[in-house]
Amino acid sequence: MKAFWPKKLSHLQQRELIGAGQYGLVYRVFNPELDTHTVIKLIEVQQENLQNARKRFLREIKSLNRVRSEHIVRMLNSWVEPDFLAFEMEFIQGTSLDRLQVPLSRIPYSRKEKFILDLVEQLCQGLADLHCQDLVHRDLKPSNILIQLKEVAEHSSPENILQELLDRPDFLVKITDLGLVRDLSASASITGTKEFIGTAAYVAPEQAKGEKISPATDLYSLGVVWYELITGKNPFYQKNILKTIEAHLTLEPPAINLFVPEFPLDLNHIVMLLLQKDPKLRYFTAQRLKSTLEERRKPPEEQRFQLQNILPPPDTYRQKAEFSCERCFRRVQEQLKERDVLLVVDPDPDFLSGCFSHLGEQKGETD
Ligand SMILES: Nc1ncnc2c1ncn2[C@@H]1O[C@H](COP(=O)(O)OP(=O)(O)O)[C@@H](O)[C@H]1O
Ligand SMILES: [Mg+2]
Repeated sequence: MKAFWPKKLSHLQQRELIGAGQYGLVYRVFNPELDTHTVIKLIEVQQENLQNARKRFLREIKSLNRVRSEHIVRMLNSWVEPDFLAFEMEFIQGTSLDRLQVPLSRIPYSRKEKFILDLVEQLCQGLADLHCQDLVHRDLKPSNILIQLKEVAEHSSPENILQELLDRPDFLVKITDLGLVRDLSASASITGTKEFIGTAAYVAPEQAKGEKISPATDLYSLGVVWYELITGKNPFYQKNILKTIEAHLTLEPPAINLFVPEFPLDLNHIVMLLLQKDPKLRYFTAQRLKSTLEERRKPPEEQRFQLQNILPPPDTYRQKAEFSCERCFRRVQEQLKERDVLLVVDPDPDFLSGCFSHLGEQKGETD
């Protein structure tokens, strides 16, 4: 994407590109009126292929306008012009979670448990604030999770930031990138729209199939993020995007204690529930998960309930299923091409979702 800067934003100085996604450029800038650094996300409306980008951008601006949450990045200003769209948001001094994943995978679980649970709890609050506005994020993943630290040297390495977080865990989690948000209160989303959109490594089965999505869709992605933080591995990792999606639809995630034998059983139940293929079996809402984790932090004699008692035994939600239909996948592959991370398959979503339901029929129980 070529660099451009609209005249209307010329008051913003010291532009530094900090992110360039498929749908826009993200700059850190200095805003002299506010006397602080802020962030501008920007697209130039020019080429005919930007229709989707425009839709996505407007969706992001509208959603950010609607949500008030300590755990969702705050929008300060927005511009919807014939030749560009942009919004300004608070600058989050710290890091996105994806930069911490490698150093975190080298840390023993006991040392990082508190950090992970704090992070998950704050994510739950952000999701709950989004969900109570009838909005579903649909793209929760480490690069869209920002961690704000009170004091951090500029350009600190991820290793240093992580040490800081583990030693002094007063950090604030902020969810960003609301470009794929679905508004459940809009009539078009009452049934699924067969739109296939999201990020393969974190996508919930119903989202991959273009079926009806719900707040539980974000809880699945949260489950994948959480699993990765604990084990250092994505539970559905495969060599390519299509196999990854197939894994979300059919494979049971490897047991966490294979990688982390000391991982507490009650938390294991929770993560496995979040990763249920059927959204109805995920059990938690973001709010309920947050209060469960809060309860768990109390000393046992003060807890209102024992976690084991409220969760179904693992066997009731363990299903083994396998399918293969190479021909279908080859056809889908032709359509999709190998994209990097973001899958947006607008050309013929009916075809794609037809393929997935066909694959669903091929599924055989192997228990
Ligand atoms: N408010 C912010 N403060 C600091 N960094 C940010 C902010 N917003 C985005 N970023 C950085 O820019 C990256 C891309 O931003 P994002 O909104 O996720 O755009 P994209 O749609 O391209 O994924 C993020 O992963 C993060 O590293
Ligand atoms: Mg992003």
